[in-house]
Amino acid sequence: MPLVPMRILLDHAAEHGYGLAAFNVNNMEQIQAIMEAAKETNSPVIVQASRGARSYSQDNYLRHLMLAAAELYPNLPIAMHQDHGNSPKTCQSAIDNGFTSVMMDGSLAEDGKSPADFDYNVRVTSDVVKLAHARGVSVEGELGCLGSLEHGEGEQEDGHGAVGKLTHDQLLTDPNEAEQFVKATGVDALAVAIGTSHGAYKFTRKPDGEVLAMKRIEEIHRKLPNCHLVMHGSSSVPQELQDIINKYGGKMPQTWGVPVEEIQRGIKSGVRKINVDTDNRMAMTAAIRQVLWSTPEKFDLRDYMKPARDAMKKICAERMTQFGQAGNADKIKAVSLEAMAARYAKA
Ligand code: G3H
Ligand code: 13P
Ligand code: ZN
Repeated sequence: MPLVPMRILLDHAAEHGYGLAAFNVNNMEQIQAIMEAAKETNSPVIVQASRGARSYSQDNYLRHLMLAAAELYPNLPIAMHQDHGNSPKTCQSAIDNGFTSVMMDGSLAEDGKSPADFDYNVRVTSDVVKLAHARGVSVEGELGCLGSLEHGEGEQEDGHGAVGKLTHDQLLTDPNEAEQFVKATGVDALAVAIGTSHGAYKFTRKPDGEVLAMKRIEEIHRKLPNCHLVMHGSSSVPQELQDIINKYGGKMPQTWGVPVEEIQRGIKSGVRKINVDTDNRMAMTAAIRQVLWSTPEKFDLRDYMKPARDAMKKICAERMTQFGQAGNADKIKAVSLEAMAARYAKA
């Protein structure tokens, strides 16, 4: 089937009470890993590319890789999503390159670093909703800035994230504002800030409610029971992967991620999209380190890329099962972008 709008996957997940992992990709092996995991578990798929990923892999390669995935797995519904679009222009270019969903992250200004105010966020997000819905493309917005409730800072590891110290008000999405925001913009999904951040260094201890505000999700869900919520920075940073990386020459300081059971709690309160990048990066890096450390005579990249791809597939299949999307691919009927645009026009 052709790539589908993300909205139909989110609607199905809401109707049946499960969550969908959204995995970041930068190259062919990562797309292959996700698709094989989806086939094995009969899962609908959300693949997402950041601005960095788009410039690393180039839009044309990415578009054709995604079309290849749709061709090779005709029974799996796949949405292709722009992660953290920094402006309407970025979202427009994603749509022009075949993305079926875009995130307009107006929680930060166009520089991807400075926290933006509510009015700016509403304005740019509404602009994107207009241009995207006219093409049947789904839109995710974000309210509140991702960052640590432990030390008040965002994570710039990925070149996208708030700079400087943030207050708890900025780091936690306000439920009343969330209600206003969704109403004013018409977004299909809302990313919320609850103390998670991108990358491996999220928490200095196993997180509790002080630093990972799952209660906030429950409060937002009470205000917006029909809104699809999104959790960013949701890698679990498995201890096992930290240990393998460090055993084979890595130097990752001890760290904690978001426990899967907390995500499962979120799914009970409206979380439908869960962003995972770091766990897959770690799985691939651990596998590559292990091969190169144990067999230093090897130099054929397939000797380490294949185990790396297998390791990512294993993480993806685990998350698909844990979030409940497994077993649902063949229950979803494809909707074209044109039909989706007509649906938005009527609403
Ligand atoms: O947005 C966060 C994702 O982990 C993507 O990271 O910007 O380094 O591709 P990236
Ligand atoms: P992680 O760094 O926790 O995998 O989060 C990824 C993410 O939120 C991408 O938008
Ligand atoms: Zn993110």
